[in-house]
Amino acid sequence: MNKDLLKLLDLTSDDILLILDTADALKAQQKAGVKHDFPAGKSLVMIFSKNSTRTRVSFEAGIYQLGGQGIFLSSAESQLGRGEPIRDTARVLSRYCDCIMIRTYAQEEVEELAEYSAVPVINGLTDFAHPCQVLADIMTIREYKGKLEGLKACFIGDGNNVANSMIVGCLKCGMDVSIACPDGYRPDARALDFAASVKGNAFTLTDKPEAAAAGADVIFTDVWASMGQEGEAQKRRKAFFDFQVNDDIMALANPGCMIQHCLPAHKGEEITEKVFEEHAGEIFDEAENRLHAQKAIMYLLMKR
Ligand code: CP
Ligand code: NVA
Repeated sequence: MNKDLLKLLDLTSDDILLILDTADALKAQQKAGVKHDFPAGKSLVMIFSKNSTRTRVSFEAGIYQLGGQGIFLSSAESQLGRGEPIRDTARVLSRYCDCIMIRTYAQEEVEELAEYSAVPVINGLTDFAHPCQVLADIMTIREYKGKLEGLKACFIGDGNNVANSMIVGCLKCGMDVSIACPDGYRPDARALDFAASVKGNAFTLTDKPEAAAAGADVIFTDVWASMGQEGEAQKRRKAFFDFQVNDDIMALANPGCMIQHCLPAHKGEEITEKVFEEHAGEIFDEAENRLHAQKAIMYLLMKR
């Protein structure tokens, strides 16, 4: 493992499997009421430039369960909001805390924070990537299916941060990946370049949701307008009209096909209420697994 967790492109397949195995172990310990073997008194500072429910609460509860403390820092209310450079913030926070989690817009900001921080930095979502989310998703898929290799994972919708991370994470775990996005809303070139480098025919990109969903074992989707894109919501509703996960799409997938949605969901847009509720078990297990996967990341990065 590297010092930081900034994007799944930086992780090897073995790193991902180590995180998943550690997450499974920590989850089992927590369910059994067994204390985790982790040094007490570690602190995690959590910088947020965007809204959050799951990421904030799962990181804060997670570090507490590991015997440490979470510190919430809104960038708007901190000196970051008044223009203090990220590189100075990194050098200050690493004198106080053992780990920094950041949710922001530009991936470059997270990379710079990590470069100047003496302590591990975790990406809690950028416009480019949502690595913690996809690690929790892959953990959930493995729980339900008992394996990853050879499964077909499909993403229908916007080629956004979740799609970028899903492409890289699922391919690194030996899954086939099919993506359906409208023209003009494709995943980032860095994710597509990685997909192109994977041997075999593991990756397909199409503008036809039906083609992507055929034979899928798990279908991912996400909102049509991400945080920061609220002004484009109307235009996006038109562009994504045919990219809904509904009964017709599910009928094309394999029997027992799972749904993964990072949440929050806009039911009636990217997914119908019916499909969402039929798959609520998997979707809320996925949300729970954010806690376990992130505890594993903190455990591995802070224990070194
Ligand atoms: N899925 C996810 O990251 O949720 P939050 O935006 O609530 O943190
Ligand atoms: N793509 C969404 C994910 C939210 C967890 C966003 O960036 O807003």
